[in-house]
Amino acid sequence: MRESPDIESHSPPPVLERAIFGFMASHVLFAADDLGVLDLLAQGEAFESTALATKLSVSEEALDRLLTALVGMELLTRDGGGYRMPPQIRPFLSRSHGLYCGGLFPLLKHFSMRTFMHLGDALVDGAPQWKKVLPGEGAAPFDLIYQDAGALERFAQAMWSLGYQAATELVRPLALERGGHLVDLGGGSGSFAVAALQQWPALTADVFDRPAMESTVARQRDAHGLGSRLGFVGGDFFQSGLPRADLYALGFILSDWTDAQSLPLLRAIHSALAPGGQILILERLFNEQRTGPLPTALMDLCMLLETGGKHRSAAQYHALLRQAGFSPGPVHHSSYEKHMVVGIKA
Ligand SMILES: C[S@@+](CC[C@H](N)C(=O)[O-])C[C@H]1O[C@@H](n2cnc3c(N)ncnc32)[C@H](O)[C@@H]1O
Repeated sequence: MRESPDIESHSPPPVLERAIFGFMASHVLFAADDLGVLDLLAQGEAFESTALATKLSVSEEALDRLLTALVGMELLTRDGGGYRMPPQIRPFLSRSHGLYCGGLFPLLKHFSMRTFMHLGDALVDGAPQWKKVLPGEGAAPFDLIYQDAGALERFAQAMWSLGYQAATELVRPLALERGGHLVDLGGGSGSFAVAALQQWPALTADVFDRPAMESTVARQRDAHGLGSRLGFVGGDFFQSGLPRADLYALGFILSDWTDAQSLPLLRAIHSALAPGGQILILERLFNEQRTGPLPTALMDLCMLLETGGKHRSAAQYHALLRQAGFSPGPVHHSSYEKHMVVGIKA
């Protein structure tokens, strides 16, 4: 009916339609990625659904309906030659490409989709909701995620995929020709430490994280041939003494915590740093008008639900740094969604 120019449309505007049906679109994307059909099409060839269904051993009719939804979402096109992925989408959905964004999907699907069911409760009590989703007892979601090998792997993979490529850009301005020692605090799978060691051959680094992360870091150390240049220190950064270092990196750490929780940690880092040392805060950043970017605004709600933390603007990070005794340094933007705010110990 909407094709007729004489009939006024009473459908919601597209921007509202996308918001209404967005959760279905996410399921379509994650299921298609899981199945491997996006990876196949991301190689550039066109396929009929019959050929794809045979290749992937799934129902042809159901697959065709999934692919039709992906056409509606503008992630695929369909013409006489079958289904095809537009060139500008391919790098992001090809599993072997450095820009592949699917590393995040399992965490979103298994954890965030469920925590967002409790957004209404968070609006009433202003509190995180992860305990309703993760079974067991623990003071922080990490304690529970790490009790399940599958969840730990999904989490480590998501962190690596959100961090490594951005880190390769953000380590360049550090000018560490003379080396020094970096501690990647809460370094997770070590994406920042690995990128820094690759860029600066005289540098050494430790990832400091919960003991459960040790084998993940060892895997990355071996995969990147870093040997004894990359160490691991297991501990609790709120309880343990922090190792001395010339540089401290905090990637997606402060966004897990409130200002009141972050400040003692920043002060402890200030004490552990050598004079002239730097703290590197790696985070998504709100623009200063707080109108976006949209992924930062949505992930800010994710932080509320999943850890009780929040996303901030560069000016807000500078204010926190000042309160902890640091001089605010430069802000470096990467071409990804993770940026770097520097603080200097005078
Ligand atoms: C959101 S992840 C960020 C990982 C990594 N820095 C990155 O940028 O990808 C937060 C990390 O902080 C670690 N973490 C959380 N609480 C911690 C604590 N009390 N002591 C040490 N590490 C902690 C988690 O294990 C996890 O690896």
